[in-house]
Amino acid sequence: MAMDHAPTPVSNVDLPALLRWHLDAGVDETIGDEPVNRYVALPAPVVQTSFATEQKPASIVIAPQPTSAHIAQNCKTLAELKAAVESYDGCALKAFATRTVFADGQANAKVMVIGEAPGEDEDRQGLPFVGVSGKLLDRMLASVGLDRATNTYITNIVFWRPPGNRKPTAEEIVLCMPFVQRQIEILDPAVILLVGGPSASTILANPQGITKLRGKWFEFESPGLSRPVPTMATFHPAYLLRSPNQKRLAWRDLLVFKQKLDSITTS
Ligand code: URA
Repeated sequence: MAMDHAPTPVSNVDLPALLRWHLDAGVDETIGDEPVNRYVALPAPVVQTSFATEQKPASIVIAPQPTSAHIAQNCKTLAELKAAVESYDGCALKAFATRTVFADGQANAKVMVIGEAPGEDEDRQGLPFVGVSGKLLDRMLASVGLDRATNTYITNIVFWRPPGNRKPTAEEIVLCMPFVQRQIEILDPAVILLVGGPSASTILANPQGITKLRGKWFEFESPGLSRPVPTMATFHPAYLLRSPNQKRLAWRDLLVFKQKLDSITTS
């Protein structure tokens, strides 16, 4: 029940008693004399920003933040790029990580390996692939004469450990990608090996799963490269540790990869 006339205000009225009387009478809402259309947009509030002592409105200038693409484009060397990634605060992952994991290996390497994301060991040491799966990656590379101490360069598609080792989100990958792309351009490798599904689908810009993408040649192109770089994906070593029966396919990929590398570097 509603009452459409407010009681005439009277001083000396016992307001709690009056309220109880209304409630006892079944009055559970108040309605004014004039209808109110609440669907009409309210006028924008007028916000006046001024200093107490001055009449001039204060102007707040927010400088546009450079994007990762802008920052990356301005880097000419791997050392500059590493410093830029280390001081970049645009990716939320950084807030949870202990260290920035930029890369490991040789700056003149013909082989570039790109993994997914740093894990716990990598976060502690600041280097990619130094944990259990990294040890297997080292053995896989060694089986075809490759190693980070002499002829290989290793990085990931994101530079900070995702909390709890979850997969990096699309947004985190997109923010880091200009740095990865610039790393490829500056390193200018002869061939690229992508390890694991997220790395493969990101770098190849192809949403298919790793089972479909692995073992085939693709070409990675970028405006800063003088030519497309032959690129192959294979299984991630962490997956191979869980599914050792797939190692056979990974080793086959590596042999094909090495053949291509040899054909490029000896021609
Ligand atoms: N897995 C990755 O993909 N990268 C690392 O650096 C370590 C584990």
